[in-house]
Amino acid sequence: MNHQARTPLFTAVIEHAKRNPIQFHIPGHKKGQGMDEEFKKFIGENALSIDLINIAPLDDLHHPHGIIKEAQELAAEAFGADHTFFSVQGTSGAIMAMIMSVVGPNDKIIVPRNVHKSVMSAIIFAGATPIFVHPEMDPKIGIAHGITPNSVKKALEQHPDAKAVLVINPTYYGIAGNLRKIVDIVHQYNIPVLVDEAHGVHIHFHDELPLSAMQAGADMAATSVHKLGGSLTQSSILNIRNGLVNPSHVQSVMSMLTTTSTSYILLASLDAARRNLALNGKRLLDEAIHLAQDARKRINEIPGLYCVGDEIIGTEAVYDYDPTKLLISVKDLGITGYDVEKWLRKHYNIEVELSDLYNILVIITPGDRPSDIDLFISALKKLSEEQSHQIQKKHLKVRLPKIPALALSPRDAFYAETDIIPLDESVGHVIAEFIMVYPPGIPILLPGEIITEDNIEYIKQNLAAGLPVQGPEDESLKMIKVIKELKPIPIY
Ligand SMILES: Cc1ncc(COP(=O)(O)O)c(C=O)c1O
Repeated sequence: MNHQARTPLFTAVIEHAKRNPIQFHIPGHKKGQGMDEEFKKFIGENALSIDLINIAPLDDLHHPHGIIKEAQELAAEAFGADHTFFSVQGTSGAIMAMIMSVVGPNDKIIVPRNVHKSVMSAIIFAGATPIFVHPEMDPKIGIAHGITPNSVKKALEQHPDAKAVLVINPTYYGIAGNLRKIVDIVHQYNIPVLVDEAHGVHIHFHDELPLSAMQAGADMAATSVHKLGGSLTQSSILNIRNGLVNPSHVQSVMSMLTTTSTSYILLASLDAARRNLALNGKRLLDEAIHLAQDARKRINEIPGLYCVGDEIIGTEAVYDYDPTKLLISVKDLGITGYDVEKWLRKHYNIEVELSDLYNILVIITPGDRPSDIDLFISALKKLSEEQSHQIQKKHLKVRLPKIPALALSPRDAFYAETDIIPLDESVGHVIAEFIMVYPPGIPILLPGEIITEDNIEYIKQNLAAGLPVQGPEDESLKMIKVIKELKPIPIY
């Protein structure tokens, strides 16, 4: 038997539940016997019987020596890593552990400007200094791609003392940069490459998909098994390659950030998802890719719609793409992505992954059926007919905000005493909160940065265009939180 067919953790919890022990331990619902009846019926006995915690026969995620260790070792083998750690706190938890295990107070870390908030949280907790690299912008569809090998090279030449480089690969939209080249450049400085692989758990299992972080030689990757790999929501993994990072240290940091009440339902689902990916991933992904490519072709025949395909490949930032992501530009219909999302919900009971001003994003996985795709295509055709009177060719211009100077580390800014002042009077002050616009999803200002006239102008332009500006406590963006009486001096 292929040993990837084994599920040491999942099998052990099922066997434990079958033995039906008398439980004088947490969780207090005791196999569902002591809980709300309606919830119990809905969730079902099987799930409740394996809602367990780290009693001795079931190992301990904080010090794995038994079934969790075995399950993690099988996962490492399946993902081409030297070590895999399970996370019950999503990829956010894995990202924080990954970053906090390689940078400390005042250390520099090179990161793309459009990072997920867990990256900035980790940088704030660690007290590190982020060195931002601009992602490439796509003016045609109005989204940010990844960072290029050249921009990483330049950042390292300017900051040769950086302790790590973080890359998002692939992006939410399924776009991959030349990760292998980035890894080669970064390794010349003898520092690790950390990959936010939240949207790429499946890519390791099919050679028509972009290279995974481990295949590209990266040192660590935080990978959302729950997003596209078939495990339950909140379960993720952290993959590690030996060499530039110390796995025991990563394990300790991960443990510091993890609940002591780890869910065995989540852990078992990771074990089972790994088995399914290792044994059936290639075949299941074949089917998903085929479904998605067929849908892409049909969507591109609908007037006013454009579904991104392999024609997008060919720049340093767009080295490869994941065809299972259907990124559909709707701007030529003369309505926004938000409008399309609402229309699909109201008229067809269809929910998309995300929408923005110009696009919707739909993900195709082994969980999709051809009949669902057919319904989606019919819905898009109907929408296109309804909008036929105003199909247009507007040319979208995406303006990129200048990266402001950092006066304080984001951590110092986060913990500093603050004042609330009008946005209009904030030039020259150091901001203590985040301001971002979606799309393109790049933070305009982060805690610790010096506010410029250009930033305020950019925020106002976005607000005037109806773009959602997010982050500040005052959602109207009239007032803004700044550091009290600080004369800003850029630190780089
Ligand atoms: C790029 C990126 N990184 C990290 C995360 C965090 O993943 P999780 O929701 O599993 O914590 C997300 C979530 O959407 C994401 O889009």
